Amino acid sequence: MIIDPQDTRKISLSWRDYLHEMKESWAVARWVYQEFITPESRHWTRRMLVSLAISVTALNGIAWLAKYLVDGLIRHDAHAVRMSFLGMAACVLIYGYFDRLQMIAREYAQGANLTQLKRRMNELFFEKSMGQHLQESSYLNTANIERGKGRIEQLENLLAFEGSSSLISLTVALTLLWFRVPAAALFMSLLLLSYLLWLVYLNRNIAEKCVPFDKEFRRLNRWEHERWEKIERVKTCAKEGAEIAYQDRAFRKVLGEERKFWLWFIRKVTWRGYSNRFVLLGTLAYGAWRIWQGDWSNGVFIPLLMYATKVSESIWTIGHIEHQINWNMPAIRTAMLTLKVPPEAIDKPNAIELRRKNGVRVEMRNVSYSYAIEKRDLPMLSVDDPETSELWSDAEVASAGRPHPDNDKAGTVQATLSVLRNVSFTIEPGEKAALIGPSGAGKTTIMRLLMRYMDATSGAILIDGHDLRDVCLSSWLNMIAYVPQQAQVFDGTIRDNLLYRFTDEPIEVPDEELWAMMRKLKIDFGDRLTNGLDTRVGRHGIELSGGEQQRLMIGAAAMRKPVFMVVDEATASLDATTEKAVQKGLEEVLGRTMGALIITHRLSTVRRLCTKFFVLRDSEGLASGESQLEATANSFEELYEISPTFRMLADDQGVAILGSPLPPVPMPIGTSEPDESMQYA
Ligand SMILES: Nc1ncnc2c1ncn2[C@@H]1O[C@H](COP(=O)(O)OP(=O)(O)O)[C@@H](O)[C@H]1O
Ligand SMILES: [Mg+2]
Repeated sequence: MIIDPQDTRKISLSWRDYLHEMKESWAVARWVYQEFITPESRHWTRRMLVSLAISVTALNGIAWLAKYLVDGLIRHDAHAVRMSFLGMAACVLIYGYFDRLQMIAREYAQGANLTQLKRRMNELFFEKSMGQHLQESSYLNTANIERGKGRIEQLENLLAFEGSSSLISLTVALTLLWFRVPAAALFMSLLLLSYLLWLVYLNRNIAEKCVPFDKEFRRLNRWEHERWEKIERVKTCAKEGAEIAYQDRAFRKVLGEERKFWLWFIRKVTWRGYSNRFVLLGTLAYGAWRIWQGDWSNGVFIPLLMYATKVSESIWTIGHIEHQINWNMPAIRTAMLTLKVPPEAIDKPNAIELRRKNGVRVEMRNVSYSYAIEKRDLPMLSVDDPETSELWSDAEVASAGRPHPDNDKAGTVQATLSVLRNVSFTIEPGEKAALIGPSGAGKTTIMRLLMRYMDATSGAILIDGHDLRDVCLSSWLNMIAYVPQQAQVFDGTIRDNLLYRFTDEPIEVPDEELWAMMRKLKIDFGDRLTNGLDTRVGRHGIELSGGEQQRLMIGAAAMRKPVFMVVDEATASLDATTEKAVQKGLEEVLGRTMGALIITHRLSTVRRLCTKFFVLRDSEGLASGESQLEATANSFEELYEISPTFRMLADDQGVAILGSPLPPVPMPIGTSEPDESMQYA
C-alpha cells in the first residue's frame, strides 16, 4: 500500500499549535487583503456579489415555482400551470440580466486585483534597500516572488470569486429550503456543521504538512530559474541531460512524498463525500415519506430535491476550495515574510537634501562592516541517495515544519562575516582616488556602503560633512554615478541605455553630444552600429562583447553628469590598447572637477588617472583596532615604500617602480603600444 496513515498522524499538531496555525493563516489572508485589495476592487466585488445573489435567487425561484407547476398539473389546474410558467419566465429574465451584471463586475474586479497585485509587488520589491537584495538569507529573488505572486492571485480568485459564489449559492438554497421544507433544512444544516468539523480536522494536517514540501518546491524552482538563466554554463559543461535528469528526479521525489499526504487526504475526503451524499439521500427519503403519508403535496419534492442538492453541492465545493486555499498558503506565507520585512537603509523623516555643487567631499570614518550570513544545517534533499525514502525525519519536521514566522529560519544558524575593519579615508572635491587591494578584501563592499546599500556596522560615511544616514539617499545618488563590476545593460537601443537616467524626465540630449561621448569612450564601435544610436543591443546587451558592454556602462554613467563617479573594476575585460583609450576618455569625462573612486586590480590603469591611492589589505589576522586600510599615498613610489600589499601586487603584475628591484620589462617584439607601466617607469 502506498499510504501509511500512521505516518501522517504521528506529526499531528497539538490544539495549541493548531490555533496558532489558524491565526497565522488569518494573518496571511489579512495581509493579502490589506496590501492587494483596493477600494476600486472592493466596489466591483460588492457589485458582483449583489448581482450574483439576485441572479442565484432568481434561478432558485424556478424550483420554487415548479412546485406549483407540478401540483397544478396533478390537479389539472390550467391557471396554476400558466402562472407558474409566467413566473419562471420572469425568473429566467431576471437571472439573465443580473448574471450579465455579475460577470461584468467580476471582470472589473479581477482587473483591479491584478493591477494592484502587479503594482504593489513592484513597490514592495523596489522599496527594499539594495543590501537586502544582496542577502542570501532573504527570499527576495525573482523565482520566489513570481511564485508568491501567482499564488496570491489564485488565493484572491478563490476567496473573492469562487468561494463567495459558492457561499451565496449555499445561503440562498438553504434559506429557501428553510421556508419551503424546514425539516429538510435542518438535516442539511447538520450536514454543514459536520463539514465544518471535518474541515477543522483536515486543516490541522494540510497547512502543517505542506510547509516542508513548499520549501523543497521553492528550492527546485530557484534551481530551475538559475539553470535557465545561466544556460551558457550548463551547455558548455554538456550538462543538459544531467540537469534534466536531476530536476526530474528531485521533483518526482518531493511530489511522491507530497502525494502520500494527499492520498491520505483523499481517503478522508471520500468519507466526507459519502456522508454528504447519504445525508442528502436521507433528506430526500424523509420528504418522500411525508409525501407518501399525504402530509405534503407532490410538488414539494421538486424544491426539496433542487435545494437540498444545491446545498450539498455547495458544501462540497467550499470544502474543495478550502483545500486549495491551504495548498497555496505556504508559498504566500513565504512571500509575506519576505515582503513584510521593512526596508533597512531608509531616509529619516527630515533627511537632508544634498544640493548639486561642483564637487563633493567624501569621507569614511572608522568604518567597519560585517555581512549577516546564514549557515544552513538542514540537509537538503538528497536525490542521489535512493535509500532515503523519508525526506525529513520527525525531528526535522518538528523543527522545520512548524508554521511559525521563523519557520524558514529553523535549522539555520545566523552568523556574521566581518569584511571591513576601521577603514578611514577622505576624497576631497575633484580628487580622483584609487582603491587597490587583493580580491575579496572588501573593495566592492566599500562601494556598496558609499551608495548606502546598507549601513556600516560601526563608523560613519560623511558626504560634505553630513552623515550619509541623515541624507536623502536619492539626492546623493542623483549626484553620483556608479559603474558596476558586471555591466547591467538593458534590452533596448544604445540611446536608451545611455539615457537611462532620463527615462522619466523629458530631457532632449542632442545626438552630437551622445556621439562625442561615445567617441571619447570608444563606444562608437566602428561599423558595429548599423542603426547608429538606435541600434538595439538585445537582452542583457547580448549583442555586445563584454568590453563593449562595460564601455556603454561608463558612457551611461558619464551621461548622468555626476559630481562623483564610482567605478568598480569596470575596465577589467578590455584589452590593454582599448583600456588605455577608455582611460583617456574617462580622464576627459572626469575633467578637473568631478571626483572619483576607482577600483581596479590592474595597477597601470589608475596610475596616471589618480592622484591618491588607498591600499586595502586582507582583514584576516588583523589585530583589533588596527585599520584594514594599509596605506594612503599620492604616488606608486610612495606606496611601494610603505605598503607590503602594494609591493606584492606591483611585483606580481610586473609594474616597474623607481627604486623597485624589478628592472623595466623590455617591450615584447610586435607590441605597438608600450605598456602603461613602462611609460612611467
Ligand atoms: N552579499 C554578500 N553576503 C555575504 N558575504 C559577502 C557578500 N558580498 C561579499 N561578501 C564577502 O565579503 C568579502 C569582500 O567582498 P568584496 O567586497 O566583493 O571584495 P572585493 O571587491 O575586494 O573583491 C568577500 O569575502 C565576500 O565573500
Ligand atoms: Mg569587487
